[in-house]
Amino acid sequence: MDGQSNHQAVNLRSNVLGPPLFQRLHRARHIAVFTGAGISAESGIPTFRERFTGLWAKTDPQEVATPEAFRADPQRVWDWHVHLAATVRRAAPNAGHRAIARLQDAVERITVITQNIDDLHHAAGSRDVLELHGNLFRLAPFVDEEALFAEGRNPLICHLCGGYALRDDCDPYAGREDLEGLRLEAGPVPRCPACGALLRPDIVWFGEPLDPHVLGAAFEAADACDALICVGSSLEVEPAASIPYRAIRRGAVVIEINPEPTALSQQADAAIRGSAAEVLPALFQEVWG
Ligand code: APR
Repeated sequence: MDGQSNHQAVNLRSNVLGPPLFQRLHRARHIAVFTGAGISAESGIPTFRERFTGLWAKTDPQEVATPEAFRADPQRVWDWHVHLAATVRRAAPNAGHRAIARLQDAVERITVITQNIDDLHHAAGSRDVLELHGNLFRLAPFVDEEALFAEGRNPLICHLCGGYALRDDCDPYAGREDLEGLRLEAGPVPRCPACGALLRPDIVWFGEPLDPHVLGAAFEAADACDALICVGSSLEVEPAASIPYRAIRRGAVVIEINPEPTALSQQADAAIRGSAAEVLPALFQEVWG
């Protein structure tokens, strides 16, 4: 069922939700909020797939967002992420992020399941946040298994970064503060101070697996929640895109908020055509006061 345009978002009860849906939302004890790049658009961060402004409209993700691209040209991939991080650092949580954080005071349990790497849910005050695709501001060792095991070596696991030591010895005196002092910023690609492994943003590139613990927790939340609100995602990337459908299969109320229709729109209990920063505060005000 498609909803109304966002200028009617304020009076959701009569226009879109209808009393039964409204009551089910109001009684929900566990709400999952599934977010994509669209919720950060009003914070000034470009989405990925919007026709002219999306990040992938300007750059081929195969050249900057895959392990193969990093192996081929670490500096180029690093520099692209430094440029993205500069945009994200200038961004602040918007009214959509803040409304989700406030909902923690009105509902027994809120699980935020985000595809975003911009840390804006944490910045808005959300506590239970599952970052399916990682976090741009954490660094991790680049593990090039092809190179490591090519020579039949049995590489050491670094005591500091958890990567595989490129050298035959780890520097036992390199400490956590040496690693934590490194940031995603302009300059040469940093290396682990202990073992020399190249460092990269701790995010999920195309072709990489998601953290199984994070994904498992997201599946559990989708399976257990009473309601799932899907905000700002084109639902084009698996396995994240399967999460709202899991909630539907388990009988949860599913609401979609997006200016554009997606494959979920026809299956959601309500699809509200509007922006996150306008609709989320209005929806939460209508349902939880
Ligand atoms: N409010 C809500 N939704 C919006 C807004 C807004 N203000 N502006 C745009 N949108 C919607 C768009 O209509 C689109 O459906 O946000 C969605 C953004 O889609 P994508 O750019 O594909 O972003 P996302 O779904 O998060 O992509 C998933 O793909 O490239 C990978 O890892 C990357 O996490 C990302 C994943």
